[in-house]
Amino acid sequence: MGKIALTGDRPTGKLHLGHYVGSLKNRISLQEDKSFDEVYIMLADGQGLTDNFDNPKKIRDNIIQVTLDYLSIGLDPNRVTICVQSALPALTELTFYYMNVVTVPRLERNPTVKAEMVLRGYNKDDEGLPVGFFTYPISQAADITAFDANVVPVGEDQKPMLEQCREIVHKFNTIYGETLVMPEIMLPKNAKATRLKGLDGKEKMSKSLGNCIYLSEPSDTLKTKVMSMYTDENHINITDPGSVEGNAVFNFLDVFCEDRHFEQYLKDYKNLDEMKEHYKNGGLGDVKCKKFLLAILEELISKFRMERAKWENNLSDVYDILDAGTKKAISKTDATFKRVKKAMHMDYFEDKNSIINEWKDILKV
Ligand code: TRP
Repeated sequence: MGKIALTGDRPTGKLHLGHYVGSLKNRISLQEDKSFDEVYIMLADGQGLTDNFDNPKKIRDNIIQVTLDYLSIGLDPNRVTICVQSALPALTELTFYYMNVVTVPRLERNPTVKAEMVLRGYNKDDEGLPVGFFTYPISQAADITAFDANVVPVGEDQKPMLEQCREIVHKFNTIYGETLVMPEIMLPKNAKATRLKGLDGKEKMSKSLGNCIYLSEPSDTLKTKVMSMYTDENHINITDPGSVEGNAVFNFLDVFCEDRHFEQYLKDYKNLDEMKEHYKNGGLGDVKCKKFLLAILEELISKFRMERAKWENNLSDVYDILDAGTKKAISKTDATFKRVKKAMHMDYFEDKNSIINEWKDILKV
């Protein structure tokens, strides 16, 4: 069997550079990789609703935002299929049946669910985890298996979801016979180059922490954001020695800077190592580093902005891309669901004569 990849995002906000280096960039290589027969990218709106059920408008608005983010970075709808989760009925139906092969304690042990329980004060009397959120690892297993995906390209944080999915596949196949495809996680290759700090130097870039640069970031706010980035609080005078560890600007440079950028934007150095040496020894100011980073990011993001603007002026095509992608996904996932129902002996309406014969046998008539 060829390779089929499925991955996706919750449409809960515009995508940012953290998403870009952590997963989106990887998807561009997937669409260029001839060894994949099919690549699906799903807008997981149903999953997004599990912790935003009181704010459906947020999910709805971000369907178009995230789709435009995808298109702006160069995902090509001729090579990847972009689809909308809530329009695929097979996913919810599969979830219903997979629930039988997962225990409550196993879900409670899922690290993502566990963390969420702590966050929401699970132990308090009047607060708890909605069942929908509690069971979303099962629904994610339905997503993955419905597409027969054998490769799931995601970040480190999704490991528990993949493990849970693999257990479901194993248990289902053991009970009902070989039916579901066992998926493998595909983690980003270069861990160092795929972890982007927040602008404030915090471990992670995240919308809720308000420390992001968006893929659609306008020029002026990009500048303000980069110029206010966290560096090294002990690097007060230019002549002071500076630290590149924990320094958000150097973390960004580690991720985005290439040797050619020095030739183009900062001729004082040949490469990042030379620049770092100077910073560590003292004599290189933060403003100069930030201006260099800004030039690099402006070059990257201006390409995204231009591509995004093109699609924004052609929303009818964007609609058609989502519509066609979702239709393809419906037929793909329906086919899997049919197979699953057969395996579970629930295929009553496939062949009238044969089921009537079966009934006769049971009834001895
Ligand atoms: N849980 C993923 C996230 O939060 C999104 C997602 C939903 C997903 N279904 C998926 C990822 C299936 C990969 C495969 O980012």
